[in-house]
Amino acid sequence: MGHWRTMEPAELTPASLAALYANRLPAIRVSGFASPQECRAFAAAVGRHEMKVVVGERKAAVEAFAAQKIGHLGLTQAEYKLRGVDAYLTASQAAQAQVADVCAHSFDPLARLIDRLQANVPGRVGIASEVDGRPYFCGIIRDSSNGLMLHADFAPYQAPQYAISRIEAQIVCNFYVETPAEAGLTTLYDAPWQWRPSAPGEVAENYPLPEAMVADAPAFSFRPRAGEAWFFNTRNPHRVAPSAADGQSRLAIACFIGRMPSGDLVLWS
Ligand SMILES: [Fe+2]
Repeated sequence: MGHWRTMEPAELTPASLAALYANRLPAIRVSGFASPQECRAFAAAVGRHEMKVVVGERKAAVEAFAAQKIGHLGLTQAEYKLRGVDAYLTASQAAQAQVADVCAHSFDPLARLIDRLQANVPGRVGIASEVDGRPYFCGIIRDSSNGLMLHADFAPYQAPQYAISRIEAQIVCNFYVETPAEAGLTTLYDAPWQWRPSAPGEVAENYPLPEAMVADAPAFSFRPRAGEAWFFNTRNPHRVAPSAADGQSRLAIACFIGRMPSGDLVLWS
């Protein structure tokens, strides 16, 4: 028996956002999050920078990422889960400057996302920070044309030594800047990731997750279009199928949005 009460994507409202955190619906879609002109300007601004390829820290993830060549600007907290908070926060500064340069040459989807969220929650919405006030990086720009393997994202499991481990629920916003005509399907499974550390402070491995975790689970799929923003609960295992080869990238900017026990929302990538 699944948790979702509907199989249709919802509009962004205070009720749908609360339902997404509670895993009572599969996804929220914001059509026209950005105009075609803004998307073109953003993609051109990304083109001024050289993309890096995602690498993993552990053997299984290193092999999985090497096969998929996920180009990106910026960084993920998950890349630093074994290197620690200081190394992450130091690298975050340069990464944020790079994304700020892209925004300065086009438009700022992060500011727009924060405004949209703030209009739908009573708590405060802002970039996540450590206890000493240093900010996390937010706004990874990624080309997932080659797909993403089955995985889930949940900071209390993956970042036990970070301030974001205090969140009680986690969603993501993916804003699609460019999509191929046949963009690969994103599929979500209503089977929230459950994991227990075998020792205090253990960091969960999430990429890839075993297929058995989603066997028989209700599934929801969508094919994003440029200009749309899609939100879903990242504790639900999810995957992205490779796009049909048409030379167009599947370019998106991705932000996690955690809900703190206070009700405040904190963003990072
Ligand atoms: Fe994910």
